[in-house]
Amino acid sequence: MTTLRLRPEDPADEAPVARVLATAFARPDVATPPEVGLVDDLRHSDAWIPELAMVAEYGGEVVGFALLTRARVCSDDAAYPALALGPVAVAPYRQRIGHGTAVVQAALDAATELGERLVVVLGDPAFYRRFGFSRADRLGLTSPWSGLGEPWQALVLPPSTTDEAPPPGGEVLFPPPWAKV
Ligand SMILES: CC(C)(COP(=O)(O)OP(=O)(O)OC[C@H]1O[C@@H](n2cnc3c(N)ncnc32)[C@H](O)[C@@H]1OP(=O)(O)O)[C@@H](O)C(=O)NCCC(=O)NCCS
Repeated sequence: MTTLRLRPEDPADEAPVARVLATAFARPDVATPPEVGLVDDLRHSDAWIPELAMVAEYGGEVVGFALLTRARVCSDDAAYPALALGPVAVAPYRQRIGHGTAVVQAALDAATELGERLVVVLGDPAFYRRFGFSRADRLGLTSPWSGLGEPWQALVLPPSTTDEAPPPGGEVLFPPPWAKV
């Protein structure tokens, strides 16, 4: 039986990941959707965390992708680490059968393993609430997208020790390549 394999991206995955992004985000008005360039730019930035670029492979083919990159929360003149989730994509011919859920959950589990505490995302709550995401403004987190309301979401990951303080609120700074999309 063929099963879905979830694993961090390796160098041979770059072209297949670009294909998944290009087909999942395809729009009639652009030859290549901006998400393809965004992932390339992030890959060559210091926001990239190799363990947190997750691919879903089915039958030897990359069919899904979920990316977590380094963001920061500015609070009281200090900066705290956070992760930005996205882009998330599944090849259209494999959508709506659970691959998107599986690859995002694998990325979040890997982030928890690394001791990360906060993930933010801009996206449809119908998809992201299953992972525990909720409105980021209720955690005191702001961004250029705060005004959009429900799509601006955050998830606090479980602490590795019981005495860890919850992550602070503040302004979330996304990795610079996000400013281009
Ligand atoms: C969003 C996406 C990653 C979900 O992957 P998937 O493998 O289809 O998702 P799953 O099968 O794990 O879960 C399906 C559920 O996710 C939700 N969902 C799927 N696609 C969605 C979309 N475009 N918008 C909102 N919710 C969506 C629905 O609740 C769906 O449940 P349903 O089939 O009962 O209606 C995939 O559809 C995709 O690549 N879309 C195009 C790219 C994109 O829009 N990415 C950003 C997402 S905000």
